[in-house]
Amino acid sequence: MSGAGARASNTLPRRHWDSVYRTRAEDELSWHQDEPKLSLRWVEALAAKSDRIIDVGGGSSLLASRLGAAGYRRLLVLDVASHAIERSKARSPSGGKGIRFRVGDVTSLPSLGRFDLWHDRAVFHFLTDSRDRHHYVDLAARTVPVGGHLILATFSNDGPARCSGLPVARYDATALAHVFRPRFQLSKSTTESHRTPWGTVQKFTYVVLSRVRGGRASPDRDPPAGR
Ligand SMILES: C[S@@+](CC[C@H](N)C(=O)[O-])C[C@H]1O[C@@H](n2cnc3c(N)ncnc32)[C@H](O)[C@@H]1O
Repeated sequence: MSGAGARASNTLPRRHWDSVYRTRAEDELSWHQDEPKLSLRWVEALAAKSDRIIDVGGGSSLLASRLGAAGYRRLLVLDVASHAIERSKARSPSGGKGIRFRVGDVTSLPSLGRFDLWHDRAVFHFLTDSRDRHHYVDLAARTVPVGGHLILATFSNDGPARCSGLPVARYDATALAHVFRPRFQLSKSTTESHRTPWGTVQKFTYVVLSRVRGGRASPDRDPPAGR
């Protein structure tokens, strides 16, 4: 795996996700949350008000606007779909005022700047190609300084095998931590049962991975065999 650098952007995810947000109402999105309670609690426990926070693949989540209302001022929502960004602004009580938005693909962007806290709920698990995972991990390691954190939420091993018509990779906390080592180490984990707008339950693994001093990532960035 190469270190820093741009990869050719794949237009497929953008077209897929733009179409999802163009054609489906909020209550037709399985991942919809009225309030991102667990994410909000964990961000508030980890980040100072002056910290830079990025919500990767933030979609139309209210996380950034709730953090803005709580006094966080350095917020960026990144999403591959411009329609997701427009919906995020429309859902925010402040119209997204005070939040920066960026359209971009986390599997091809060469850099994002520096963020103390990286939040991703239900994005990383769509990366079923190991080259995309490698790019993601390297980008996260270049973005989050030592002492900073990632909050990641993926489907757990007993969660769905697909979402939004796409296959996903499922993880428990150990497998997720393995993918991000040695530059991140597991600090905290839990599982969450998410109730979709139509009442079914989806099991998520939530982890905090802390950026630690360390060299280059190991070439083995895939989950351990058997998981
Ligand atoms: C299942 S939704 C989750 C949205 C949000 N995180 C939440 O919890 O409500 C996945 C989101 O990731 C975005 N996404 C998918 N692939 C992406 C990529 N490669 N780069 C950036 N965003 C991506 C999609 O547009 C979508 O908004």
